[in-house]
Amino acid sequence: MVDEFYRQMDEWPEAAALRRLHPEDLAPSRDKLASFLSGWLGGPKLFSEKYGPIAIPSFHAQWPVDEALSEAWLGCMARAIGKQGYAPDFADYLLAQLRVPAQRIVQASRNRHGLT
Ligand code: HEM
Repeated sequence: MVDEFYRQMDEWPEAAALRRLHPEDLAPSRDKLASFLSGWLGGPKLFSEKYGPIAIPSFHAQWPVDEALSEAWLGCMARAIGKQGYAPDFADYLLAQLRVPAQRIVQASRNRHGLT
């Protein structure tokens, strides 16, 4: 799913601004996000084992993440989830749950950058 997520980010025109925030080589990003989601979904806590602790909202507040960037991120996720063959209820649930941290990122970024 994470491989497909970054493929979407690379190829989907609406994700171009989001793609520009990322390094050219997405391999480390891929490993980090896959490791994070493992723990986030109740599996092994691979991210903290490999990379240490992270607070998702404050980490992302280094960038001015607005609704448009958040929707681009969730859009890549929706497209990636859609290609996994998950049961529709699970696919909807997963995307709805991912909106929660995405919204917290927008809020934290707004606070950090003094946007209203
Ligand atoms: C809301 C829109 C979001 C934007 C614009 C965004 C953007 C980014 C960017 C630019 C990076 C740095 C990539 C790199 O250097 O490898 C990153 C890293 C990361 N993102 Fe996001 N992201 C978003 C949402 C999320 C969400 C919802 C999660 C978790 C569910 C998440 C988890 C991560 C993780 C674990 C990393 C790696 C952290 C690290 O380098 O230590 N992101 N994100």
